[in-house]
Amino acid sequence: MNFEVFYYSKTGHTKQLADAIGSIIGKDAKDITSNSIDEDIDVLFFGSSIYGNGIDPAVVRFFNNNIDANIGCIVNFSTSGVGRSTYDEIKALAESYSIKMAEDQFYCIGEFAGMNSDKPDANDISKIKTFAQDIVNKY
Ligand SMILES: Cc1cc2nc3c(=O)[nH]c(=O)nc-3n(C[C@H](O)[C@H](O)[C@H](O)COP(=O)(O)O)c2cc1C
Repeated sequence: MNFEVFYYSKTGHTKQLADAIGSIIGKDAKDITSNSIDEDIDVLFFGSSIYGNGIDPAVVRFFNNNIDANIGCIVNFSTSGVGRSTYDEIKALAESYSIKMAEDQFYCIGEFAGMNSDKPDANDISKIKTFAQDIVNKY
């Protein structure tokens, strides 16, 4: 099984989660703005966030730029300021490229406009490591 972790992160919160997943799967987390998919991936951990009530256009471009990639399934992880994950947007995007979306996902709050200034915190990092290990064991 080939696991990879790619992410989009404007202010570093989702990157923290991506790096934690990377430490579990033994791979560097890859920023989608400077990396593309150049090999088959069985399980792609994909991280993103909500800005102005939606995902960033860079995420849409990433899928479009990697249309020929062979991806078994996507496992979504995300942060946002007020409690909504990116799951539905990423699922719609993935399925528009005929990529299967796993039902499992990880979400946590990320600091926004002075609220929840410590988030994601050490507990969130611990939880996403457990989540990633569970996915590795499952697939
Ligand atoms: C420009 C901007 C717009 C944002 N808009 C929203 C929003 O509409 N809804 C929300 O829940 N959070 C919003 N947030 C908060 C982010 O989703 C939250 O800080 C998230 O953890 C950012 O992840 P990142 O650090 O990986 O970019 C916004 C943050 C920024 C910087």
